[in-house]
Amino acid sequence: MYYFDTHAHYDDAAFDPDREQLIKDMYDFGVKKIINVGADMQSSLNSIKFAEKYDFFYAAVGVHPYDAVKMCEEDVKMLQKYCKNYKVVAVGEIGLDYHYEDIDRDKQCYWFEKQLELAEITGLPVIIHTRDADEQTYKIIEKSGVRCGVIHAFSGSAELAQQYVKLGFYIGVGGVVTFKNAKKLVRVVEKVSLSRILLETDAPYLTPEPYRGKRNNSQNLQYVAAKIGEIKQIEPNEVIKITCENAEKLFL
Ligand code: NI
Repeated sequence: MYYFDTHAHYDDAAFDPDREQLIKDMYDFGVKKIINVGADMQSSLNSIKFAEKYDFFYAAVGVHPYDAVKMCEEDVKMLQKYCKNYKVVAVGEIGLDYHYEDIDRDKQCYWFEKQLELAEITGLPVIIHTRDADEQTYKIIEKSGVRCGVIHAFSGSAELAQQYVKLGFYIGVGGVVTFKNAKKLVRVVEKVSLSRILLETDAPYLTPEPYRGKRNNSQNLQYVAAKIGEIKQIEPNEVIKITCENAEKLFL
């Protein structure tokens, strides 16, 4: 049994002071697989570099909606090239973020569709970021024909989660499930089969209780697994084992 962190950003500057040591510690702790997820062109490339440097790292390449509004066709071509790398296992994180009104939504949709196309062409699963844009995100994915991936840091209703599962997607669950105000996500975990849930940290963000507010890392998946176990009334080890199998099936 080991931990598989399906979503982290270890190229983030928050890890500059002690990255090497932390990565070693996490591996020794039992984190044996990590997907480092790109959020723009540079971090996509960084993710590949990490995956080439560390055996147990894999990479996802893609541009987050905030940066996607500045994309050009050349970037998509470059991403397609990146996808050929043997350690690249997904296109992501891509999606829609309507939290702030001034980030052009038409452009977000356009580049989201383009990157979904890229996933279709390359046959890779997608890692979806969606915030305050549930309806539009679902519509675009449904229309795209992409049927393989994960909805990262899922924040929608249990009903929407079920819809995504029917479509062929997994539900990414991280530190938020341990928060006191996580009622909605707890319901999602109750309703969705464990065979459709993936563990993720989004490190350095979204740190679970009891370390909420501090820098996150993949060892904290233990608190996420414990919480899911509590909700589903099964052993945390069972949660770790099944979600790990799910991740291997989807990405490797
Ligand atoms: Ni992320």
